[in-house]
Amino acid sequence: MSFNKLAYDRYSVRRFSDRKVEREKLDSILEAALAAPTAVNRQPFRIWVIESPEALEKARESTHFHFHAPVIFVVGADPSAAWERPYDNRNFADVDAAIAATHMMLAIHDLGLGTTWVGHFDPACLKTPFPDMAPYDLIAMFPVGYPAQDCVPHPLHETRKPAGEIAVFL
Ligand SMILES: Cc1cc2nc3c(=O)[nH]c(=O)nc-3n(C[C@H](O)[C@H](O)[C@H](O)COP(=O)(O)O)c2cc1C
Repeated sequence: MSFNKLAYDRYSVRRFSDRKVEREKLDSILEAALAAPTAVNRQPFRIWVIESPEALEKARESTHFHFHAPVIFVVGADPSAAWERPYDNRNFADVDAAIAATHMMLAIHDLGLGTTWVGHFDPACLKTPFPDMAPYDLIAMFPVGYPAQDCVPHPLHETRKPAGEIAVFL
């Protein structure tokens, strides 16, 4: 599949089947994250794979957007480990973590799974039951599973600004 076909085929999956996600596929998603480029190669991100019933129950309390997925990935950025641009001290932790997260999102689709990038969650509700997450800036949750048979893209999926509105050739 060409890259643009993969990019356009992907859509936010919000209905999942009960089928369990194989461990090799979870490992493959993590591998995709590890391949991500980061500023000065600092790799200032961490990923939690939430799969046990107890941990899933706790994680689901942090968001309405868990879609009862059988696995949830959480991606955190660590500003203390990230490169800062010297001119304006801009910290690149969230950028780096978002690149890794994007790799994961596309790999999930490539593996025949589905997900939605979820930003609407309460980080404090994750950090209390999972204290390991406390120092991190939690940038994304990915509920992951096999798409339900009747799953279709939301109409927003088709709404893309034209290139002329986004790109500026100077
Ligand atoms: C940073 C970010 C945060 C998002 N947060 C949520 C969310 O909390 N809940 C949700 O249902 N979708 C969320 N989405 C999914 C977007 O709504 C979706 O990607 C967009 O409408 C385009 O649709 P598509 O992914 O099907 O192409 C988020 C996407 C991004 C990139």
